[in-house]
Amino acid sequence: MKLRESGMPEEAYWETLFDVPLILDRLGINRQLRDVVELGCGYGTFTLPVAQRISGVLTTIDIEPAMVERTRQRAAQAGVLNVVYAVADVFAIGFGGEPASQDACLLFNILHCEQPVKVVVEAARVVRPEGYVHVIHWRYDPATPRGPSMEIRPRPEHILNWSAEAGLCATPEGVVDLPPWHYGIRLQRVAVRATPHTTVEHLR
Ligand SMILES: C[S@@+](CC[C@H](N)C(=O)[O-])C[C@H]1O[C@@H](n2cnc3c(N)ncnc32)[C@H](O)[C@@H]1O
Repeated sequence: MKLRESGMPEEAYWETLFDVPLILDRLGINRQLRDVVELGCGYGTFTLPVAQRISGVLTTIDIEPAMVERTRQRAAQAGVLNVVYAVADVFAIGFGGEPASQDACLLFNILHCEQPVKVVVEAARVVRPEGYVHVIHWRYDPATPRGPSMEIRPRPEHILNWSAEAGLCATPEGVVDLPPWHYGIRLQRVAVRATPHTTVEHLR
């Protein structure tokens, strides 16, 4: 089922609403991440720049074939080859793939969905123990030029509470401002954050 209020405005306008390099810098999306999975490529606004930054493969999943096709087309034009595309309903079947197989999962403009805890739990499943779930969303402010209606728009504390149910907590930078219209949260397993000196080997 397509998530509620996930219709997109025209592509050129949508892409004026984000400072993509700033967002990716502030969320720590860089070559230290290998494989990453994204829920909802949309126009590929983040898909292409993320794929260009990471050192592995970006798997992007969208329920809309036209969105996947548009993103595939843009990636081909830009010579971005490290993207795997899937048309699927993540809310029905999850991300697929092995548990703990990804360095990160991207939930960008997604968590106004009907079952946010289910999505965050599924995101936590696919990232490896020391991996990250990256969330961005529209500020809880009716003055934003777009974004879901205020009744279903999550506040940062909602996202932190849902994440806690999934065994995740924010990394030390906490809720990050992503001007002009968004905020972001980088999440990691509570067990990893609670034991900062624990080595990866101990967690396996
Ligand atoms: C608000 S847009 C965000 C797109 C992109 N993440 C961004 O921020 O530019 C939500 C996207 O999720 C996709 N989507 C909605 N329901 C979905 C589902 N059940 N499974 C996978 N993708 C879904 C929509 O087709 C749309 O492309």
